[in-house]
Amino acid sequence: MFTLLASLALVSCTHKTIQHMPTLSAKNHSFANYDSVTLKHIHLDLAVDFDHKKLSGKAILNIDNHSGTQYLILDTKQLHIDKVLLEDKVEAAFSLGKEQTHLGQALVIAIEKNTKQVAVYYHTSPEAEALMWLSPEQTAGKKHPFLFTQSQAILARTWVPCMDAPAVRFTYSADITCDTAFLPLMSAQNNFEKNKQGKYHFEMPQPIPSYLLALAVGHLEFQSLGENCGVFAEPEMLEKSAYEFVDLSKMIAGASELYGEYAWGRYDVLVLPPSFPFGGMENPRITFATPTIIAGDRSLVSLIAHELAHSWSGNLVTNQTWDDFWLNEGFTVYFEERIMEKLYGKPYADMLSELSLGELKVTVDDLMTSAPGDTKLKLNLAGRNPDDGVTDIAYVKGCMFLKMIEEQVGRPAWDEFVKAYFNHFKFQTVTTDDFIDYLKENLIAKHPKANINYEEWIFNIGLPKNCPEINSTELKRVAAMAADFNNNHAIKAIDTAGFTTHHWLYLLRNLNADSIKNDMKVLDSAFNLTASTNAEIQCDWYVLCIKNNYQTAYPSIENYLSNVGRRKFLKPVYDNLAKTPEGLKFGKQIFEKVKDSYHAVSRNTIAGILHLQ
Ligand code: BES
Ligand code: ZN
Repeated sequence: MFTLLASLALVSCTHKTIQHMPTLSAKNHSFANYDSVTLKHIHLDLAVDFDHKKLSGKAILNIDNHSGTQYLILDTKQLHIDKVLLEDKVEAAFSLGKEQTHLGQALVIAIEKNTKQVAVYYHTSPEAEALMWLSPEQTAGKKHPFLFTQSQAILARTWVPCMDAPAVRFTYSADITCDTAFLPLMSAQNNFEKNKQGKYHFEMPQPIPSYLLALAVGHLEFQSLGENCGVFAEPEMLEKSAYEFVDLSKMIAGASELYGEYAWGRYDVLVLPPSFPFGGMENPRITFATPTIIAGDRSLVSLIAHELAHSWSGNLVTNQTWDDFWLNEGFTVYFEERIMEKLYGKPYADMLSELSLGELKVTVDDLMTSAPGDTKLKLNLAGRNPDDGVTDIAYVKGCMFLKMIEEQVGRPAWDEFVKAYFNHFKFQTVTTDDFIDYLKENLIAKHPKANINYEEWIFNIGLPKNCPEINSTELKRVAAMAADFNNNHAIKAIDTAGFTTHHWLYLLRNLNADSIKNDMKVLDSAFNLTASTNAEIQCDWYVLCIKNNYQTAYPSIENYLSNVGRRKFLKPVYDNLAKTPEGLKFGKQIFEKVKDSYHAVSRNTIAGILHLQ
């Protein structure tokens, strides 16, 4: 028996290996040789196995070996490669390169000059970082497991062997097989109807970069919100989600009016279980979103405006490398605010903008002591995890830079420029230098008197002096209340009539932790903050509670850290806990209990904060 098993194992691992491995060098976080071989299309044929937490099947890559190279080099991480076939019949020699931190392993495949099709048979590992396998308890319905992917920035390679660099665009199609209890969704076209075979076909006819490959499989239902849009969620969340996103079709119309036609056909939102580590992810045709934006009062829908805006900035015009990440996110935050202004008016958009600017100033101050180079828009992430670039710099400094240009040339000229920029570079990737050239030629040349200090904004550290100011009258009123309370400690100073989530956040951020040390109970009794169910408000309030060691809130803090998986919320709470020995101990206790329910992205960040890595 033993010998039989052993020889079977041997047979399944035998394949021809590459005799003379080419030198493998990573460029822009990828090993792929996309300069020598063009990747045109990927067809995925994958079965979803919840019991073993794995996807298995094949990826068929259509290529053009225009350089006549002997090798196709792909990115992989944590993937098990079973065999590789050329043109669906000939077994090809292949080898994996040495594992490199963050990057994984190059997959080197021997190809011919005229090879057109390479089929990689493979399966994923249960630890694959892009794949989050949820137990039934981690879902709203508690009955079925759930799977979702998160490919950005360089995690697509943990579930698809591909050229995992944003510089490479390809079309894709997929056949997904799963148990009939589930509906699979992808960032691609499909008729979204459950079928008895559990087999689903998807097509993405527009070329996309690998970080936009996405799959979710769960007990999901759909509600339409207009002709071309709707929401998917577990049945338990569907009605609430549909209520929250009533304005979805208005958002799409507003965005298209601003900067040109929506390029992707449908726009749907998938509301995921709470362990999704981000607020949202702009997977084309179907944004993945955290349930923490379902506040019940539609107050957090700017996140949808943000992900929708990526349909232009990011998905249509894509950062060529992760060093150019600000082109994706800075433009998107700017566009998001314009959508919010169009739908809900300038006072509302100004509140959002001023809150973000406040966050940016804190981030700049922090980074100027810890990593000043990371305050430049154009980053240098070579040898690092591109995740390090996900800060308010790309997002808010990027947005403020664009606002500054708008101030200099006026809105009509600026809008015309942005629309033309999206149109000119659609379905392409751009570097920061491409953007600068386009800016000089198409805007600066026409406005010689404008003072557009783009070099300072892009290549220098810190926040330039001509950073626009935001004057939200709403928030001024709130700042005055906070100042009054900080000085006089009289609760009547705070008049919360007409408060939205954003008023609350600004209030909490303007309360001075030291001066209100003895007022925590009074505030809590007056406004019931510890018991809030708004994840944004909870986050800021709990940070204040930790700063003031307000123990009454600690059970709720534990509950929050156990039930929310979004890194943006976990991080500040753990950060503040880690500042004192008792807090650190409390944080570690919670983390040890719940870390398996966190996505790898959140788990790694928090482990770092708690000095566990
Ligand atoms: N594309 C990002 C999320 C992302 C960035 C994932 C980099 C992995 C690497 C998405 O559009 C985003 O910015 N999400 C924000 C939402 C927000 C700024 C409204 C988030 O998740 O908080
Ligand atoms: Zn974004």
